[in-house]
Amino acid sequence: MSFPIHRGRRLRYNPAVRRLVRETRFAPSQLIYPLFVRPGRGVRDEIGAMPGQYQLSVDTMLERCELSLELGLGGVILFGIPAHKDATGTDAMDDEGIIQKAVREAKRRFPELLVITDLCMCEYTDHGHCGQLVDGDVDNDATLELLAASALAQARAGSDVIAPSDMMDGRVARVRGALDEGGFEKIPILAYAAKFASSFYGPFREAAESAPKQGDRKSYQMDPMNAREAIKEVQMDIEEGADMVMVKPALPYLDVVTRVRELFDVPLFAYNVSGEYSLVKAAAANGWVDEQKVMMEMLGSIFRAGADGVLTYFAPEAAMVLREEYGR
Ligand code: PBG
Repeated sequence: MSFPIHRGRRLRYNPAVRRLVRETRFAPSQLIYPLFVRPGRGVRDEIGAMPGQYQLSVDTMLERCELSLELGLGGVILFGIPAHKDATGTDAMDDEGIIQKAVREAKRRFPELLVITDLCMCEYTDHGHCGQLVDGDVDNDATLELLAASALAQARAGSDVIAPSDMMDGRVARVRGALDEGGFEKIPILAYAAKFASSFYGPFREAAESAPKQGDRKSYQMDPMNAREAIKEVQMDIEEGADMVMVKPALPYLDVVTRVRELFDVPLFAYNVSGEYSLVKAAAANGWVDEQKVMMEMLGSIFRAGADGVLTYFAPEAAMVLREEYGR
């Protein structure tokens, strides 16, 4: 492979050649758009730490659902912000809870839209932890029961895919069992399988009003420095019945995405989380980077690493760029 027989630049010498030999492409159908829903009407409160993202009410959320369909996105993932929080997050299990209302309306108005529900207690508990507290720490097995009840409420409301993000041990098996018993054996589970205790979730916790009042999530989310353990977590979730798995965050964990891709043949997603989004927005607002180009390069890198799909706040923006680039 030596010069001058080989000249790498021959395949870069004009845009048509470059386009022909591009190795990684992705489509709007591989992007999932996260939305935050709270009670009320006509709510469209911009999230301070996430310019361009909003806390919505069900009616304004429906507008974003419609846009998602128009742009051919893979779907939406909904996060609920309840009117009342309590120690066990009862709103998450209530058929009239915010997330259940949001799912019902989204599926009623747009039956062909894929609606995923995030399954976790942190938005619903008054202490902000992802499960039930016992002696100041999240009790694993008690939390499994809350998650099972919440998953059933989401399924009854019409959720297409349940996505547990709590990192309790055994939750995929427990949720699978509850869904099957409830007659929802057809509903797939997308497990946040390798979810790290990341500082990149900061802006999300403002968006979802879900920051822990005390302590942190390190007794259940993974140490950011552990990649081998991530493989074990993914393997366990698949064995417990996860149909699809996720690595989260995305960009600082592309090595984990690649390893999971090589080892497991299930659909693999990565979550381009709030902090990853906000860093780009802040730099772009300062004129330090070109927002669109940086966005496409970042999303492309997640696909290049091996993801089949990406959850990203950039989904509509990226879909518009893709439409320009490749048509639909
Ligand atoms: C937990 C959950 C979190 C995110 C998605 N689901 C926050 C956390 O674990 O504290 C973070 C997403 C993001 O930062 O964009 N329900």
